[in-house]
Parts: sequence; C-alpha cells; structure tokens
Amino acid sequence: MFLINKLLAWTLPLVPKFIVGIFSKKYIAGPTLNDAIKKIKEFNSKGIMATVDILGEETNNKEDALKVVDEYLQVFEAIESYQLDSNVSIKPTHLGLKIDKEFCYHNIRTIVKEAQKYNNFVRIDMEDHTCTTDTIDIFLQLKENFNNVGMVLQSYLRRTIDDVNTLLEKKANLRLCKGIYIEPRLVAYKDPSIISENFKYCLEKLLGAGCYVGIATHDEKLIWHALSQIDKFNLKKEEYEFQMLLGVTDELRNILVSAGHRMRIYVPFGQQWYAYSMRRLKENPNIARSIIKNIFTKG
Ligand code: FDA
Repeated sequence: MFLINKLLAWTLPLVPKFIVGIFSKKYIAGPTLNDAIKKIKEFNSKGIMATVDILGEETNNKEDALKVVDEYLQVFEAIESYQLDSNVSIKPTHLGLKIDKEFCYHNIRTIVKEAQKYNNFVRIDMEDHTCTTDTIDIFLQLKENFNNVGMVLQSYLRRTIDDVNTLLEKKANLRLCKGIYIEPRLVAYKDPSIISENFKYCLEKLLGAGCYVGIATHDEKLIWHALSQIDKFNLKKEEYEFQMLLGVTDELRNILVSAGHRMRIYVPFGQQWYAYSMRRLKENPNIARSIIKNIFTKG
C-alpha cells in the first residue's frame, strides 16, 4: 500500500489543476490577503497564533521580487489594523536570492525593518540545500542589527548538526522541521528514523542552550519527545512554541492548545497556490490516492 501511495503521489503532476485546487483548499487560506486575515482571525479567536506566507518562490526578475516586498509590507499593515496575532514567513528565492544575494539581503532587510516598526517578527523559511548557506549568511548579517528575525533548520540535512552548533552560540530564534524538499543522499538523510533522531538531537541542543524554538512537526512521537525536553529543561510556555501547517492534524493541534502550549499555524495565501499544493500532496500520499480515486469515479 505504501508503494502504491508513493507511486500515486508521483503521478500527481498529471492530475488536472482544478482537481488539485479542490484538495488544496484545506492547506491554503485562499488567493487574497483578505482570505488569510479571515483564517488568522479564526485561529486567534481560539488562542492560536499564525505566521503568514505569501505563496511563491524562485522569482527570476527584480521587478517581481520588489513587488513581493511591497506585498509583505501590506501584510504588516493588515496585521496592525486588524490587531492580529501573527508574524510572517518569507522565502529567500521569492525575494530574489537566485537573482542576486545582495539584492535579496536588502529586500529581506526592508521587510525585517518594517516588522520592527510594528514590533513584529520575520521568519526566513529554509528552501532546498542550494539555498542553505546563503540563507544562513543573510540571517546572520541581519541578526547583527535586528532581533526580530529568525530562521529555519531542517533535520534531514547532514550539515544541520554543525549549523545548530553555530547558531546556538548566537542564541538564534529557530524553527526546527524535518525538511520538505527532495534532496540528494549526499546532503540529506533518507532514512525517516535518522531524520527523526536528528530532529530530537538538534531540538535538545537548541532548547538546552536557551534558544527559542518553533517546534514544527505533526509527528506525535516527536511532539512527545519535545514535551519531555520542555519538562526536562523546565521551560516556561513563552520560551518555545509548537508550529503546524494549515489544514494538517487539527486534532493533535487542539490537544496541544488545550494543554496550554503556544501554537502557531502557517497560513499560506496567494495566487501561486499550485506549487505549494503539489508539495503538500506529494507529502501525504493518502490524499494523492483520494484525488486519483476521485478523478476515476467522477470520470
Ligand atoms: P511527517 O511527515 O512524518 O508527518 C507526521 C504526520 O502528520 C503524518 O503521519 C500525517 O498524519 C500528518 N501529516 C503530515 N503532513 C501532512 C499533510 N500534508 N496532510 C495531512 N497530514 C499530514 N519544510 C522546509 O523544508 N522548510 C521550511 O521552511 C518549512 N517550514 C515549515 C513550517 C511549519 C509551521 C511546518 C509545520 C512545517 C514546515 N516545513 C518546512 C515542512 C516540514 O519540513 C515537513 O515536511 C512537514 O512538517 C511534515 O513533517 P512532519 O514533521 O509533520 O512529519
């Protein structure tokens, strides 16, 4: 069954876009900022925080990257005017990393500076391994002047233990996740149990060093391990947070929230929903299976 599911996930690119659209509704607030605001209000009313992501990546001209900067500035305005409990997540390639690193740095700096004005925070998402070094460089350069910026580490990357050692000395604010891109074995672990062990190892080191960690997983075994570390280090609720994706494992999310843990939901919105949806769907072959079934039964 596992192999069939995997195979179905890989045939997803053949699925008509409108069908992907139907299934991706769960994972995306909608095409507009207003859609994101609506979702965030819902979460906030349940005591859950959010981080807003404007969908898009691999921007290949400066004009488009600058438009993305402007869109993020509008997001801060909306957060302020609706008094939302939300920060933002950004992707360096969306802001021009593949065009020019210095240009990307300045774009991210503009967003972080605007966030500072509103006493808000910017999380730099981590993309595939070709971006890791540049993303860490940009983050560390920003961190010299701003304390409202954080980054992401992926436990599937072989380099992450070394990155943890560098970043914990700087008391960086980090999101820790498994990692979602398809990476070569040379740079990333392939065995899910090693990825989980590395997640635990890195989390323990970061929490032990007093770093604020966004514990980003829906994996209940890792969540149990995180809870055990929170207990071991006697952490207060405001010294860490759990993070989950919109539309994934709502029940587990509610269990953690009811137990009093801080929870932040990643709320993506925007016109470029297709690439994001395909990643989410490939990640969960059971959904891929129901899409294919749906096509055939409808047909
Ligand atoms: P795992 O994939 O093992 O999932 C555990 C369980 O969760 C599954 O058994 C299933 O029940 C459920 N589940 C997981 N995904 C699901 C889905 N799509 N639909 C339905 N159920 C699902 N990655 C990255 O490379 N860079 C980044 O910057 C980020 N940022 C980020 C932010 C936040 C808030 C989260 C939660 C995740 C990310 N990720 C990410 C993605 C992350 O790397 C990872 O791919 C996913 O979180 C899935 O991994 P889990 O740890 O949840 O385990």
